[in-house]
Amino acid sequence: MPAQLPLYLCIVLLSCYLSYSLLHSWLRRQRQQQAQYRQQLQVYRLRRQGKIVKIWLRHPQGKLLPKAKAGQHLLLQAPDLKGNKVSRAYSITSDCSQRRYYQLAVKAEPDGRLSRALWSDLRVGDRLLCSAPKGHFILHQSLLSRLKARLWPQAQRPVVLVAGGIGITPLLAMLWQLLRQRRAVQLWLQARTEADLALWPMLRRLPGLDFIPVLSQASADWQGRRGRIDAPLLLAHTAANAEFYLCANAKMVSELSQQLQASGVKHCYYELFKAAQSTENHLIELEGRSAQSAGYPSVLDALLGSGIAVPYDCRGGSCGQCRLTLKSGQCKTVLAPEFSVAEHEILSCCVQASSALQLAFSSFASEPDAIGTAITTPNLEQPQNL
Ligand code: FES
Repeated sequence: MPAQLPLYLCIVLLSCYLSYSLLHSWLRRQRQQQAQYRQQLQVYRLRRQGKIVKIWLRHPQGKLLPKAKAGQHLLLQAPDLKGNKVSRAYSITSDCSQRRYYQLAVKAEPDGRLSRALWSDLRVGDRLLCSAPKGHFILHQSLLSRLKARLWPQAQRPVVLVAGGIGITPLLAMLWQLLRQRRAVQLWLQARTEADLALWPMLRRLPGLDFIPVLSQASADWQGRRGRIDAPLLLAHTAANAEFYLCANAKMVSELSQQLQASGVKHCYYELFKAAQSTENHLIELEGRSAQSAGYPSVLDALLGSGIAVPYDCRGGSCGQCRLTLKSGQCKTVLAPEFSVAEHEILSCCVQASSALQLAFSSFASEPDAIGTAITTPNLEQPQNL
């Protein structure tokens, strides 16, 4: 055995380690750049119906837009009703096979700073600052399965899309893709009244779609299903080997996913559009000030609710403004973040406390002047190239 062998081994191991570290940090930088990418898009069509405003966006010069995957969202930045800039994520509802426009559907929530402003103030011709399409809640289709879907659509697993209220938005983009692939697809929609169904009139006319609305407060004339969607109802109408995609509030998604998995469903994917409130009560300390976690959907909400000023913007894991250093304690992730942080940091809008927490401001974020001040990174104003 040559005497230099251990030395060679050390060099090889060191090179592997360095290559891995370089690759890892390069990928992380790419992800951060992607997360911070912004472009100005122009509103070219609007339709308001009930509390929903449907928005069509295209490039001001008619250029092709970055490709989106069905189920992804845009992070949109615009002034709220008081003129402060805020960012929120909204799902793309249009067919992602085309790149000429994105369609969004925004529900004006009573406490929604941006959604209320979009509903009341947005006009055709306005420009909005938008991210590239983001998000991991997409159809699970490898290249091979897409090829199989094209060649043998009947041999594919059936797909069941289950939406609660405005949770239908990412599922619509998935629906267009599945129908193009001629997959067997069911869409279940939990809604309150017939007026909620009138928002999506095309669903009743789509060939190839099995659309099943379930109304909780239907009028006496309603001929369809009443009550609530649950796993026995879903499984009575589809095979257990189907793929399930769920998008609704936290309660509906957690109940349904647990029931489906307990019934042997293997392919169940879901996204929450709002995390459930924390039922655990832990002390959260941030640089000498403290809050309690119970009753709040995230650490960020708990801190803000106790009057502690923390920078934030999107409240959906996309902008990174709410990141804090975790000095001690344990958190659990309740919303899947888009923005990646270091191991010793948390995105406070995406986690709940699962033990007492000691936090500090990260060097990236400074303490804001006022509670709820939307802090924006300086370079977001300028559209950048992808
Ligand atoms: S507020 Fe944007 S990631 Fe938390």
